[in-house]
Amino acid sequence: MKRGWFITLEGPDGCGKSTQAGILAERLKAAGYPVRLTREPGGTPLAEGFRRLILDPKNRVHPLTELFLYEASRAQHTEEVIRPALAEGIIVVSDRYSDATVAYQGYGRKIPLKTVTTLNQIAARGLKPHLTLLLEVSERSTRERTQGRRKDRMENEKVSFLARVRSGYRAIARKEPQRVKLVNGEGSAREVAERIWAVVRAKIGGKRV
Ligand SMILES: Nc1ncnc2c1ncn2[C@@H]1O[C@H](COP(=O)(O)OP(=O)(O)OP(=O)(O)O)[C@@H](O)[C@H]1O
Ligand SMILES: [Mg+2]
Repeated sequence: MKRGWFITLEGPDGCGKSTQAGILAERLKAAGYPVRLTREPGGTPLAEGFRRLILDPKNRVHPLTELFLYEASRAQHTEEVIRPALAEGIIVVSDRYSDATVAYQGYGRKIPLKTVTTLNQIAARGLKPHLTLLLEVSERSTRERTQGRRKDRMENEKVSFLARVRSGYRAIARKEPQRVKLVNGEGSAREVAERIWAVVRAKIGGKRV
C-alpha cells in the first residue's frame, strides 16, 4: 500500500503558518511530490462552515461547544480529505491540526488535557502527523505581523490566554520531540522557509519510523 506523509504547521496566531504551509506545498510540488494543502478548522465544505461558526466574533461559544466544533471539523476533514490522500501516497500539508486543540482548548481554555487528547484521538481515529513544524516567533513579531488585520474570535482573547497557548505548544514539543520540531520563525518568510525545508527534507528523504 502506498503511504503519504502527513505534515502539520503549528504555532500561535500570526506566526506565519499559512505563509509557510503555502511555500512548503509549492516547494514539494516543484520537487515532484504529489501534495495536498489543507487547513484546520476547515478543509472541506462542511468543516469550513464549522470554521466560520467557531471564528465569528459575533458568536458566544462555550469552551466545550468550541471543543466539539473543532473535533467535528477534524473528523470530517480527516475522513474526507486526509486519509484518502495519504492512502494515495500524497503528502498532506495541514495548516494546524490536533496540537492546536491541545494548545488552545487544553492549555488556553483550561479544559482537562485528558479530555482534549481523548477527543482528538476519537476525531482523528488515531491519526497523527508524521512531522509537525512548530513555528517559534516572539510575541512582538506576531503582533507586528497581525497589526491592522481584523481579529477573529480566538485572536480577540486576552494576553494571558495567548501566553498559555504559547507555553502549551512548548509543552507539546517537549513531550514529543521526535514528531514536533521547533523552527525559528523570525526573519524573512524566505529564511523561515529554508529552515523548514531542511527539516522536511531530512524527514521525507530518510527512512520512515
Ligand atoms: N517571516 C515573515 N516576516 C514578516 N511577515 C510575515 C512573515 N511570514 C508571514 N508574514 C506576514 O505576517 C502575517 C501573518 O502570517 P500568516 O497569515 O502566515 O500567519 P498565521 O500563523 O497563518 O496566522 P493565523 O494563525 O492568524 O492564521 C501575514 O500578513 C504574512 O504576510
Ligand atoms: Mg493562518
